[in-house]
Amino acid sequence: MTDPPDRPNPLDVHSEPLWKQDFPYDSAGEEEVTRREFARYLALGSAALAAGTLGIAAWTQLRTINTGEPQPIVALDEVTVGEPYLFSYPTGNDPAILLRTSVTDIVAFSQKCTHLGCVVYFQAAEDRWHCPCHEGNFETTTGNVLSGPPTRPLGRIDVEVRGDTIWALGSRP
Ligand code: FES
Repeated sequence: MTDPPDRPNPLDVHSEPLWKQDFPYDSAGEEEVTRREFARYLALGSAALAAGTLGIAAWTQLRTINTGEPQPIVALDEVTVGEPYLFSYPTGNDPAILLRTSVTDIVAFSQKCTHLGCVVYFQAAEDRWHCPCHEGNFETTTGNVLSGPPTRPLGRIDVEVRGDTIWALGSRP
């Protein structure tokens, strides 16, 4: 009598599955990605995209925004009440505008319109900042939007009089 042929132990998890032991034929489609694997790749890809998006959002919120260093702008007596004064802040490439609204009050803003970046100017007759590109208008003392397409107020620049000079202290985008 001969010994029975060797069969792999079906309880051995490292051996081939039982069905494959009984049906030991390969098919061309066997190497293709199964639906379950595809779903797993999809989930992993989505998770990676979500993590990347969160990372970028966090970086945007946490990055240091250049608010500018305190620097002198102009002598106080060179600025007439009601007349705008142009300067650059926080860098030489950032147009800014200052207005002495009364003998004691001064406001300053970035001159870039918050819609698409055109330059705003002061309309004394209307008592407002005006952007001629798309007729955007901003309130004189706060820079808040009065009308037009802009949705955000003008970037504010904090100013202070030190001695006889007007200083810019920092900007708030
Ligand atoms: S750029 Fe100022 S209103 Fe459009």
